[in-house]
Amino acid sequence: MEKIDFNFTQDGSVGMYDGITKDIFHSVTGAKKESFDKFIFSTGFEKYCKENNSVNVLDICFGIGYNTKAAIYFALNNNPKIKLKITALEISKDVAYLSPFIIDGYETPEIKLFLLAHFLQNYDDFTDYIKDYFRKEPDIKKNYFCPDMCLVFESYVNKGYGCKVSEAILEILHNIYYQNISDSMKIDLKANEWANVDFEILFDDGRVSAQNIKSGYNFVFLDAFTPHKQPLLWTYDFLSLIKSKISSDGILSTYSNSTPVRKTLFDLGFNLGKIILDNSQFGTVASFDKSKILHNLSDYDYGLMETKAGIPYRDKSLSDDSSSILKNREEEVSKCDIMSASEYKRKFGDGKI
Ligand SMILES: C[S@@+](CC[C@H](N)C(=O)[O-])C[C@H]1O[C@@H](n2cnc3c(N)ncnc32)[C@H](O)[C@@H]1O
Repeated sequence: MEKIDFNFTQDGSVGMYDGITKDIFHSVTGAKKESFDKFIFSTGFEKYCKENNSVNVLDICFGIGYNTKAAIYFALNNNPKIKLKITALEISKDVAYLSPFIIDGYETPEIKLFLLAHFLQNYDDFTDYIKDYFRKEPDIKKNYFCPDMCLVFESYVNKGYGCKVSEAILEILHNIYYQNISDSMKIDLKANEWANVDFEILFDDGRVSAQNIKSGYNFVFLDAFTPHKQPLLWTYDFLSLIKSKISSDGILSTYSNSTPVRKTLFDLGFNLGKIILDNSQFGTVASFDKSKILHNLSDYDYGLMETKAGIPYRDKSLSDDSSSILKNREEEVSKCDIMSASEYKRKFGDGKI
């Protein structure tokens, strides 16, 4: 965790910067806002939840959990009875373990309490890791963590509760919160919808975890670091694996508008679209079901995909490192004699609407 910096994004939620990949975890315009815009509003998630009794979400790159939190928030708000299953893939426990504490812009603590209960129940190293983190990083705790959640964690740990059933832990955490911290919004936890939220997080390289998950995901959130910096989870081979996990009515969304990634998804048989919000366009959505695409890519975008810029990243064994994947692609680009992206742009402009 030494190489991670924290900051407040423009919507008041905390974002992070990774010093190793030199990449941001979250958009500066808002970490929470980004999860709503790019993974919920762009995919018809709310409508789907209203119209169905169950929804399966694959959150690739959980990080500090904004996209999982958004899925829980919108699923339960649109259909309190829905059976929500979330499978999250994340390589770093150190990062994910902070998700219940981060100032995330949600007014109520319920989702953070749910994640806290999940980690307390399932991971024996969680308690010591967080105790140690609070001790070693008092400034991060003070500036970027919710004081209430830190108090709930400390009360739970100091009282030595030994209980290992998730619902019971959640109830204890909830009681600590509403008895000691806030009197408002008391709700009966046993009667509420949390029992219908089935969350699991697989801690490994996403390329390994994805081989071991079932198929049938209705929503896939792809939030890996930028393709040209860390292409591991954007290759033809990885996305081909993900294709086999998406349901026929499923939709994949990502913040990235990378041309090799779009071309890969196109070659894999997806219909493609972009995200348009507040008069700006960004990101990519992909589905086998054409009706799921709200804003199609333009002819310009499709043309660009046929240039050198569209040459996919490859990782046949699903085990190459980023630098070899980038190097192999560069070699392929230099050998290939199709039009370059710069020639295409000279000829057809920059494609802005
Ligand atoms: C852009 S951040 C994701 C932000 C996240 N969705 C959130 O809400 O905070 C990328 C995440 O990918 C994780 N990651 C990097 N390489 C990975 C890999 N090979 N497999 C799985 N996760 C990976 C990083 O630890 C980081 O948390």
